[in-house]
Amino acid sequence: MIILGLESSCDDCSAAVVEETPAGPVVRSLVRESQDAIHGPFGGVVPELAARGHLLQVRSVIAGALAEAGVGLRDLDRIAVTRGPGLVGSLLATFSASKAVAWRHGIPWVGVHHLLGHLNAARFSAPDLAFPALVLLVSGGHTHLYLAQGWTSLHLLQKTRDDAAGEAFDKTARMLNLGYPGGPLVDACARAATRAAEPFTPPRFRDGKASWSFSGLKTGVKLRVERNPRLAEAGATDADVQGLCRSLQEAISAWLLKPIPDLAQEHGACSLIISGGVACNSRLRADAATMAARQGLRLALPEPRLCTDNGAMIAAAGALLAADSEPWSQNADADLKLGA
Ligand code: KG4
Ligand code: ZN
Repeated sequence: MIILGLESSCDDCSAAVVEETPAGPVVRSLVRESQDAIHGPFGGVVPELAARGHLLQVRSVIAGALAEAGVGLRDLDRIAVTRGPGLVGSLLATFSASKAVAWRHGIPWVGVHHLLGHLNAARFSAPDLAFPALVLLVSGGHTHLYLAQGWTSLHLLQKTRDDAAGEAFDKTARMLNLGYPGGPLVDACARAATRAAEPFTPPRFRDGKASWSFSGLKTGVKLRVERNPRLAEAGATDADVQGLCRSLQEAISAWLLKPIPDLAQEHGACSLIISGGVACNSRLRADAATMAARQGLRLALPEPRLCTDNGAMIAAAGALLAADSEPWSQNADADLKLGA
């Protein structure tokens, strides 16, 4: 089965051609047009500009993905597109384009939940993964831990009470004037560090419920910058900035992984999947490998280009879902729930 996958839920406009084979999905092409130059000056995604950007980008990413894979619309067995959640104006660009192409060429169509896409990003390198699996989805909008019994089911176990882990990276980079998007820049600074700054204090929850909180990190970085204003100007080559990034990254990685061993045992999980943009983080990848080996968990970490938002993961998820018999009545849903 040859599937065209489309994704534009936030600020990446992406199309991919994926071939579903008996041995699992294979990326035949993956095209992504970044909007970093559009949103960079604002230090975060501006929804209206993102939607307009997608309108200009959608045709060329589709054409690019088809050309790179050497296929035409006639060769497609299915079109899969993100239905939500996300920014509604952004979602609508690829959603509407996909319906138009499917209608014009009579191609079966399926709408996909964005998080099922991130889950299925792991299928490219680990198609034979055993379930149940714990699934850590960490991005600019999500920091959620799920239990999955297969590639199309996610049952929420815990999530952040406030900011997503990706926001902590992005906001830190903003306060340190490193640029946008923050995650890869903080990661590079942290890797260059020869020593870590003072560690960040983990949050304490009085109600005893399992969860995460990352908004305190933002305040922590802000206080350190207020104490030492030089940090905001010194830039990525400064040893103190690098040390701060390293402490931040160590804290985020440790906090994210802390609940995994107990929950794996409680739910009999034999695998751990980590996906979403923050799964590109070098420290998190290394710490997760160490922890999974110690716990006897099989770790599935998609390659970095498949961790951030992309059309291939949507195609991989769409390959496993039933095509929609009535695509024309479907709409994008900014607040789409899992299982809806
Ligand atoms: O999954 P994604 O592409 O989009 C959302 O659905 O949010 O994730 C984007 C997030 C951003 O917050 C970005 O800073 C973060 O992933 N990110 C990283 C790294 N690469 C991307 N965070 C930490 N380290 C990285 N190397
Ligand atoms: Zn995402």
